[in-house]
Amino acid sequence: MLGLKLLTDPRWANIAESNLEEILTDHAWCEQKAATNAITIITYNSEHEDLVTSMTEIAIEEMEHFKMVHDIIKERGYTLGRERKDDYVNQLYKFMKKDGSRNDAFIDRLLFAAMIEARSCERFRVLSENIKDEELAKFYRELMISEAGHYTTFLKFAKKYTERTDVDKRWKEWLDFEGQLIQNYGKKETVHG
Ligand SMILES: [Fe+2]
Ligand SMILES: [Fe+2]
Repeated sequence: MLGLKLLTDPRWANIAESNLEEILTDHAWCEQKAATNAITIITYNSEHEDLVTSMTEIAIEEMEHFKMVHDIIKERGYTLGRERKDDYVNQLYKFMKKDGSRNDAFIDRLLFAAMIEARSCERFRVLSENIKDEELAKFYRELMISEAGHYTTFLKFAKKYTERTDVDKRWKEWLDFEGQLIQNYGKKETVHG
């Protein structure tokens, strides 16, 4: 699925379902971080009109997702907890190239975003197919489709705007790195846990 090297063990969905308040809180913050990342891409690359247009749409969509998750939290009488640290994303962040040229860093930030979208999409699929809560199963199915669209958008812009990075080759390196990294996860009730 989306080139991912290792698929999530469906038993992770049972762990997630055992603590809905926690997974929903963590999920809400994932959406906020995705919106923030799209805004950061706009901030550093404002000269590309189509990119700015697309990142604006993504930032709005991610905050709509945040609102949807927050609405579910409220409906169910839960409380949105404090922002959660995302160890998985922090490890991906370390892998992202920050030196080299401005274009190198730009392209790798797009691939960093595509990587998170791909895994989030896969995790939403696992949730939608395995949890017993029908409202949430349907909700995660819709989000899975949306995040797959974001994944495609980030990769498309990486290929369009690269100056010297071989995007196909670098994307393979991302998939290999992530395939190793994800082996340490799948045990906690967080989106990437
Ligand atoms: Fe989202
Ligand atoms: Fe997304």
